[in-house]
Amino acid sequence: MIESIRISKNKVEILDQTQLPFLEKYLPIKDYREMAEAIFKLKIRGAPAIGIAAAAGSYLASLEFSDKKDFSDKIFTAITDLENTRPTAVNLFAATSKIREMIQKNPENISEQLYNFTLDLMNYEKIACEKMGEIGSKFIGNVKNILTHCNTGSLATYGIGTALGVIRTISLNHQIKVFADETRPLLQGSRLTMWELNKSHIDSTLITDNMAAQIIKKEKIDCIIVGADRIAKNGDSANKIGTFGLAILAKHFKIPFYIVAPETTIDRKIMNGDEIKIEERNYNEVRKIKDYPITSDEFKVANPAFDVTPSEMITAIITDEKAYQYPYNL
Ligand code: MRU
Repeated sequence: MIESIRISKNKVEILDQTQLPFLEKYLPIKDYREMAEAIFKLKIRGAPAIGIAAAAGSYLASLEFSDKKDFSDKIFTAITDLENTRPTAVNLFAATSKIREMIQKNPENISEQLYNFTLDLMNYEKIACEKMGEIGSKFIGNVKNILTHCNTGSLATYGIGTALGVIRTISLNHQIKVFADETRPLLQGSRLTMWELNKSHIDSTLITDNMAAQIIKKEKIDCIIVGADRIAKNGDSANKIGTFGLAILAKHFKIPFYIVAPETTIDRKIMNGDEIKIEERNYNEVRKIKDYPITSDEFKVANPAFDVTPSEMITAIITDEKAYQYPYNL
């Protein structure tokens, strides 16, 4: 299994996703500041993986501040810095709110507690991926041609993945063809999903985002399977920018549109998608590919990293517990 993150006593490293698919390099993360930067720069990314990274970052902070008098202030500031990296994926905040509670409840042996918490979270996400794979492959059934968006595999989680985990599990039963959107502007599809699908020997084809309608029609796509970063109680689901557009295409072509995410991605505190904060990223991500300028830096740009698909457009939300269907009351 590809590991998005590795942790042992006093040591954390992440697979640097900005280097893929050209370089498979684990990057040692020396302190929580480096972890916050890695999350912000998408060296580690994907909702479940961000949650784990925040836990590992908090562990590093606890080691750094363990003998400080003002330990409490320092660790809570570090946790806030980790939280301030990316606002949309709820997994980050689900992890940090449990960590805050843990520290308040029992301030003894915090490093030990945070180390075990990180390992437990990795284990939870790994098992959750397997369960989503089982539940999703059974629910979705006999599909041959699948379209997916962004990256929802081992890199985005810890395990076989969410949407990609379901796709992997379906591929164990019968031959499938997967079409992966490149996912502008940061190219998670072309760099990461294609890399994972190729490693798994799944027949996969890269397309640019604007090819989706033509490919759905020409290749007789059976269904669209994607992940989520935050799901509201009514089922409205935030995911990588471009997902909402795919749901509209699914409706037009009358094909099912599935969201796959662990229960940790459901934010039961919010009633609907209007309450989800959408991350707006640096405009240079649109003006450049990697560091190469593709347009003038004087042109006005918008760069929302996520969009929200209304629940009524989602055929099913598959979690590690069950396949929910519309109308959702999660
Ligand atoms: O900006 P990213 O790459 O972190 O966005 C990731 C996604 O949108 C994924 O689809 C989502 O986190 C689900 S990953 C299991």
